[in-house]
Amino acid sequence: MRIAMIGTGYVGLVSGACMADFGHDVVCVDKDAAKIAALQRGQLPVYEPGLHDLVASNVKQGRLEFATSLEEAVRTADVVFIAVGTPSRRGDGHADLSYVYDAAREIAAAIEGFTAVITKSTVPVGTGDEIERIIREVRPDADFVVVSNPEFLREGAAIHDFKHPDRIVVGTQDERAKQVVAEVYRPLSLNQAPILYTSRRTAELTKYAANAFLATKITFINEIADLCEKVGADVQEVARGIGLDNRIGGKFLHAGPGFGGSCFPKDVRALIKTAQDHEVSLRIIEAVATVNDTRKRAMARKVSAIFSGALRGKSIGVLGLTFKPNTDDMREAPAIALITALQDMGARVRAFDPAGMNQARSLLKNVTYCADAYDCADGADALVIATEWEQFRALDLERLRDLMACPVVVDLRNIYRPHDMSRLGFAYACVGRPAKVSGLVENVSLNELMSPPRERASNEEVA
Ligand SMILES: NC(=O)c1ccc[n+]([C@@H]2O[C@H](COP(=O)([O-])OP(=O)(O)OC[C@H]3O[C@@H](n4cnc5c(N)ncnc54)[C@H](O)[C@@H]3O)[C@@H](O)[C@H]2O)c1
Repeated sequence: MRIAMIGTGYVGLVSGACMADFGHDVVCVDKDAAKIAALQRGQLPVYEPGLHDLVASNVKQGRLEFATSLEEAVRTADVVFIAVGTPSRRGDGHADLSYVYDAAREIAAAIEGFTAVITKSTVPVGTGDEIERIIREVRPDADFVVVSNPEFLREGAAIHDFKHPDRIVVGTQDERAKQVVAEVYRPLSLNQAPILYTSRRTAELTKYAANAFLATKITFINEIADLCEKVGADVQEVARGIGLDNRIGGKFLHAGPGFGGSCFPKDVRALIKTAQDHEVSLRIIEAVATVNDTRKRAMARKVSAIFSGALRGKSIGVLGLTFKPNTDDMREAPAIALITALQDMGARVRAFDPAGMNQARSLLKNVTYCADAYDCADGADALVIATEWEQFRALDLERLRDLMACPVVVDLRNIYRPHDMSRLGFAYACVGRPAKVSGLVENVSLNELMSPPRERASNEEVA
């Protein structure tokens, strides 16, 4: 099959590369000429584990190409996927559909022969109807069908998710379109991935409902974590205790600094707007959006509380900047609100991320970007773990402590055990678990923690 993938961002590139790997001929199109030129040189615009090799091998075997010309790719394609961005519209939080509709107009002008136009972008209910109207308006003669096929992959595990989906949702009632989609995903049906055929509107809403539900689960456990802190319970044990119930499930029950990323925040906002347009109030989802928005910045107060609110002039190291590990995506990352709030409180911020530093530099100013976790800890009054990258899970804690001006760790991802941290002499705060931070600060005064520790002297000798 010849496939044109319009939009070569995260979703377009991963989907295009995986479809090429299934054996289809895929042209990934993007209007960003620099991105396409880089891809043609073998440079990827995003960091995603395994993607570089997947792209390289399919390019080498002649099944995957990159182009800026939508016209040529669409003219020769059996299937056209729309995978352009649908960010929040500035000002009102609706999904900005201008990229989708522009792409639809361009596709319309180029269609030849029967073509399935399949929307992979996350779009509000009714967008497929509008795409159909646009194409019909531009090309009354065209033989086409518009299908919704939302994508559920997760950044950081995108290739696995694409190749082992829990389900493939296909919104169409057109028999020819069903055959086309079945052919695209045939290798997956051999793995028995269920294809769920629905109406187009149902498919569109299913994607938003899925993301809103997952965002709700995260927000639920975050609020339970807040209560745990007040009553002396452990949120990780609560999460396990409820997650083992099959009706609840253990995933998305990790308490932390709030959800971010390119999808959940914008999709939650867009779903609320869609509901408002239809005079339905989604009060649970509205609460999720509000709670999550305030939470990210509130994490800075966890840090300032340790210093009794006096953060001015303090050096705070932040480990992890991306919204989750294994991606370089900084879109709506909790670290952005956290760092901005720390700076507003007068702190000086040092930061390190294994993949997100380039993206971060354009978003976060007046930050000292460090070479690694230890450089980030060097001279810091506190270290905040904002993203749970694998390499932060097994840090040499004694070395870290010795480098710091004051051994304070605020672990927003609960990757260390409070007991271990206090045994090593850290004042340690985490999310929703009993920790010794107040006890330590009471028993050993913060001044004592901050006085040049002997370990620091020995470390400087080594350095
Ligand atoms: N990122 C994810 O994890 C994820 C997961 C599931 C669904 N989605 C959805 O998929 C869609 C794409 O997301 P993304 O993260 O890949 O976006 P992205 O911003 O990374 O990429 C979109 C690309 O589309 C290109 N583009 C825009 N208009 C174009 C046009 N007319 N012709 C050619 N190219 C055009 C842009 O230049 C950009 O490179 C969104 O609707 C998103 O909600 C994303």
